Amino acid sequence: MAKKKSVIDLMEMKKKGEKATWITAYDFPMGSFAEQAGLDMILVGDSLGMVVLGYQGTVPVTMDDCISHCKAVRRGAPNTFVIGDMPFGSYQISDADAVYNACRFLKEADMDAIKLEGGMRVISRIKAISDAGIVVFGHIGLTPQSSGQLGGFKAQGRDVNSARELIRDAIAIQEAGARALLLEAVPPELTAYIAKKLTIPVYSIGAGVPCDGQLIICGDMLGLFQAFTPKFVKKYANVAEVIVNAFKEYVDDVKGEKFPEDKHVYHAIDSPEAFEALFKEFE
Ligand code: KIV
Repeated sequence: MAKKKSVIDLMEMKKKGEKATWITAYDFPMGSFAEQAGLDMILVGDSLGMVVLGYQGTVPVTMDDCISHCKAVRRGAPNTFVIGDMPFGSYQISDADAVYNACRFLKEADMDAIKLEGGMRVISRIKAISDAGIVVFGHIGLTPQSSGQLGGFKAQGRDVNSARELIRDAIAIQEAGARALLLEAVPPELTAYIAKKLTIPVYSIGAGVPCDGQLIICGDMLGLFQAFTPKFVKKYANVAEVIVNAFKEYVDDVKGEKFPEDKHVYHAIDSPEAFEALFKEFE
């Protein structure tokens, strides 16, 4: 079994030009599959709100939802670097609140790091959490928790003015003590510049190749999430189709009495006569 990665390993990988792989997971089986497949990291994203809880966005997700899903993933992936995603409302109010909630991820769910969304406006949060001794990952570009302000799930940094803002955010996030930065849905030209400019690893979800690794949402790449598929997703499987077909086959089998078969039942160990006698007791 591969050794669990640390932030030092992630820095080494950046220096060597070795790409890091991460995926989201929200429960025990997915955590376990990710660990078996040798992923470097797992993000228990607040995307769980959309992928597994059926919300329209990530805003309704609570700290308790996140902690519960993080614990399940950790049980499935005890030897993988797992990042807990701070949900909306868990760090917006104050630095003290942010540190308190970040601590919950480590103490209650055994996370290795936390991630939070935003640039300049969360710099004091990143600094406070990092000063508390917690590994922080930043996240800028398309930030789903503020999709309302962005006018939807839209690519960011495509013009020079917004790209400038993102470069400033990225530098400030590193200076505040973050140990990695995730760029979501920004042009590869900008990704390449930021990945070169920063000394910490810079990862992409929908931000192209030129950086230190890739994240993908398990529900998207497996074809489990059916509401929409972002342009930047490669679908590696259509698990929803497999599941729906399996359920349909089960329905047909039960209605046609093809399931259960003899091999699926527990036969009595006493004789049929003994059972007849038993049933008579109740006549
Ligand atoms: O919650 C999540 O999965 C995320 C990704 C969209 C980066 O934050």
